Amino acid sequence: MEQEKIFERLLSIITRYYQDREQGRFVDYLDPGDLQRLLDLDGGQETENWDQMFSWVEKYLTHAVKTSHPSYLNRMWAGANLPSVIGEMVTAITNTSACTYETAPVSTLMEKYMLRTMLNLVGFKNGSGQMTTGSSNANMIAMMAARNAFNPAIKQGGLFRQPELFAFVNEDAHYSMDRAANIIGLGTDHLIKIPVDAHGRMHLADLEQRMAAIVADGGIPFFVGATAGTTVRGSYDQLQPLLALRDRYNFWLHVDGAWGGAVIFSDTLRQHYLPHLEQADSFTLDFHKMLGTALMCNVLLFNNRPSVLKEVCSAGDESYIFREGDDGDVRDLGTLSLQCGRRVDSLKWFLDWKFYGQHGLAKRIENYLDLCRYAADQVQQFDELTMVVPRESFNICFRFQTPAGIPTEAFNRDLRDRMHRQGTSLVGTGFVNGQLTLRLLITNVNVGKPEIDTFLQTVIKTGQELLAERKGRDHV
Ligand SMILES: Cc1ncc(COP(=O)(O)O)c(C=O)c1O
Repeated sequence: MEQEKIFERLLSIITRYYQDREQGRFVDYLDPGDLQRLLDLDGGQETENWDQMFSWVEKYLTHAVKTSHPSYLNRMWAGANLPSVIGEMVTAITNTSACTYETAPVSTLMEKYMLRTMLNLVGFKNGSGQMTTGSSNANMIAMMAARNAFNPAIKQGGLFRQPELFAFVNEDAHYSMDRAANIIGLGTDHLIKIPVDAHGRMHLADLEQRMAAIVADGGIPFFVGATAGTTVRGSYDQLQPLLALRDRYNFWLHVDGAWGGAVIFSDTLRQHYLPHLEQADSFTLDFHKMLGTALMCNVLLFNNRPSVLKEVCSAGDESYIFREGDDGDVRDLGTLSLQCGRRVDSLKWFLDWKFYGQHGLAKRIENYLDLCRYAADQVQQFDELTMVVPRESFNICFRFQTPAGIPTEAFNRDLRDRMHRQGTSLVGTGFVNGQLTLRLLITNVNVGKPEIDTFLQTVIKTGQELLAERKGRDHV
């Protein structure tokens, strides 16, 4: 097939998919075994056959989850902004690695530009940063930077013959903190999980007590990871008291804003949820979550540490690949990274930023918060539904209230599962204070009040169906 024909065909398939992305059900659900049979993965033996290749593409799209669909309320991301989708396509067609200026000149300059822009927005002075593969890795790099800031010799000597180091996080912090503690050699026993207060924030008196006890035992509290928007509950740890504690214990204060860090685009929301952020040591934010950039798109920023990434990440002989810039500036961003090959994530980020601007993104986040307020109010209007905990920010933790004698947890799992299989709605789950909750997140520009109403009615209708079936069974 001629190249133009290939592109014509591809564009027509993609355009059709894009036009239908909010229509019908969000997924034509099949059990894994059925889907596997239908896909016939061993089939299509003929090589270099474009028709066959397009049939795989069609199959992929037919059974893909339509993440832009208004019934897709499951995860911290949904769909993707069109400018960033265009960026992804251009990135795919040019296929290069963002590790050197030589191979990725435009991407390098865009990444540096965006890093400067974000440092200014956050208010980090004399700072530095990097686009990483997501907040999980950003949390790990921040922890590693804190470890090496405590003692730069750890980079060469490892953690042998060191005093015991301890990191502290909210007990509801993301699991990437545990993985980071494992990877950087700290050990998960040295990651202290601080119980939360009624708002889901680290209990400060508890934190202080644990730190004092560890210091009294000869340990070093070297890192506190505050969460700006916990994964299930959406709670924001309080930065001001943590900064005061940092003055006493001299730890590194990292802010994991993977989810709720998006408030920085709105002055009012930032003041409310993240005051004093500009005094933290590091901050991470996912553009691929609430802000809608195509997956993955993350930034990790450091305050007042212009060369921390080079000091922490670079190691080994990289002379075969990296070159110094004439101006003494870092020319090749790969030298600051834990990877060698790096995806070009900067183009989609830059395009979204230029297309929507800070104002557009602020409006989006403010609108999401208004919708969350509305959703929580609506939940309280229905006898069948109950909030598991009051709303802190963007997360609505609620569930179907079961009559006495019906186990709430198993019932709500069944309810969610049924909505998934029917393709009517996909909503997340999690645990708050040991209780299972449905977790409604609104990160989809195609969701407004009518879609929230439809969703809640679907939950109620499905719950009532399940109850009626149960009653029917009990009477047999
Ligand atoms: C608070 C928090 N931190 C970190 C992460 C991990 O982010 P990523 O998926 O970009 O690795 C998540 C993801 O849900 C999160 O909720």
